[in-house]
Amino acid sequence: MGENMDKLDVIIIGSGPGGYVAAIRAGQLGLKTALIEKDKDLGGTCLNIGCIPSKALLTSSDHFVFAKKEAAKHGILLDNPRVDLSTMQKRKDKVVKALTGGVRQLMKTNKVMVLEGMGTITAPGKVSVKSSSGETQEIETKNIVIATGSVPIELPSAKFDGKTIVSSTEALCFEEAPKKFLVIGAGAIGLELGSVWNRLGSEVTILEFLPRIALGFDLELSNLLQRALTSQGIKFHLETKVTGVKVENGRAVATATKANETLTFEADRVLVSVGRRPFSEGLGAEKVGVEFDEKKRIKVDKHFRTNVKGIFAIGDVIAGPMLAHKAEDEGIACIENIAGKSGHVNYDAIPGIIYTNPELAGVGITEDQAKEKGMNVRVGKFPFRANGRALANEDVEGVVKFIADAKTDRILGAHILQHTASELIAEPASVIEFGGSSEDLGRTTHSHPTLSEAVKEAALAVEKRALHIMNR
Ligand code: NAI
Repeated sequence: MGENMDKLDVIIIGSGPGGYVAAIRAGQLGLKTALIEKDKDLGGTCLNIGCIPSKALLTSSDHFVFAKKEAAKHGILLDNPRVDLSTMQKRKDKVVKALTGGVRQLMKTNKVMVLEGMGTITAPGKVSVKSSSGETQEIETKNIVIATGSVPIELPSAKFDGKTIVSSTEALCFEEAPKKFLVIGAGAIGLELGSVWNRLGSEVTILEFLPRIALGFDLELSNLLQRALTSQGIKFHLETKVTGVKVENGRAVATATKANETLTFEADRVLVSVGRRPFSEGLGAEKVGVEFDEKKRIKVDKHFRTNVKGIFAIGDVIAGPMLAHKAEDEGIACIENIAGKSGHVNYDAIPGIIYTNPELAGVGITEDQAKEKGMNVRVGKFPFRANGRALANEDVEGVVKFIADAKTDRILGAHILQHTASELIAEPASVIEFGGSSEDLGRTTHSHPTLSEAVKEAALAVEKRALHIMNR
């Protein structure tokens, strides 16, 4: 192995969507590549304890709500639908296994060498890998890509105990729905896992420090989402800062402040979802002189180069939204730069999604951001209740909103609240990437009857010429 290793072009540390996709691209470009992963399975947070298992549970629990509350509207009569949580969890595990196994296969077909163990940079061009059995080997390489991701932020006054006070990792694996489930933080994780357990029978309360949920998304649509989730039974307390959680006999009591009031909340389980922080413990980056910013993120230039020659970084460990697809595209661009091509990422066209029902999706600027910046924009909106397919689906909740430059008509932002918003947002993201206008999108033929017609109608609404609604 040693002989071969001397000739490595790139070592990628971390096999999440950033790292493993970078490895595939490196393989495609003929670079001699090794991927180092400390965990047994490849795929990182996203595949093992994040995006994929949460979407498996979101889909299963959404089907349950359909069976219980919606099926009868379609004339489908189901007597007393119930949940077999153990089967639901096993299905989730099977999905994860299929995908992590698939990534391992992809490494083989792309001739990427996979090394299991903790990777530590000992010098520029040198990485040591310590396996779980304690053996260490040192490998030489021309380039190193750090893709070590992020971990949940812990509140000092509500430390994770893995049972009562938990992170998303444990909240994906409950063996029964907690009777009372308290969620701290109304971001993507809190809203998604709050939804899962609310659907499966828990009484869910979400405490959020800010006066709104889903920070970063369009405010109007976030407020509509909050209303929808409230009608599903989730209780929200905004402008409520959690100051501590005490656990006694397996029950938690959280203390929070709202204005001058002190509030207490009892729960069987508490999910702390107040954000994630970059993970670089044991990596040795500081020791070789890699610079970090004030938030402990690795500093890179637009080519993903750190200040140390031959060391690059991508994904959650650098600045920007902590999203799998952002990490993937950075991984590709970074490898292309290493291979002498010119890879880049367009940060104005990265969609963000919260997979509740309805789903909240957004790409580009929001209406509130445009206002704050004093930008001259026009807004077009179209509600799904005026879309034929949404009516046929009995799924009319939600709206599409476009923000376009008032002078050039270029689309600057698109925001969608709808059951399948995660799929619908791909079209506006691609139009933004191509620098298209609302007129371009409005003149594009969209199949009938589809939900995507509402996207076209919202684009037409920018010029007040939507067809199936009164324009104001
Ligand atoms: P987040 O940063 O999205 O939201 C955390 C929320 O907690 C904020 O609204 C914050 O104001 C609130 N908060 C902080 N301290 C608090 C306190 N003491 N009391 C009450 N509220 C408090 O973080 P989240 O949801 O944990 O997600 C972490 C990262 O993972 C994010 O970057 C997110 O984008 C990403 N992610 C993305 C998903 C997706 O794309 N669907 C799914 C899950 C995670």
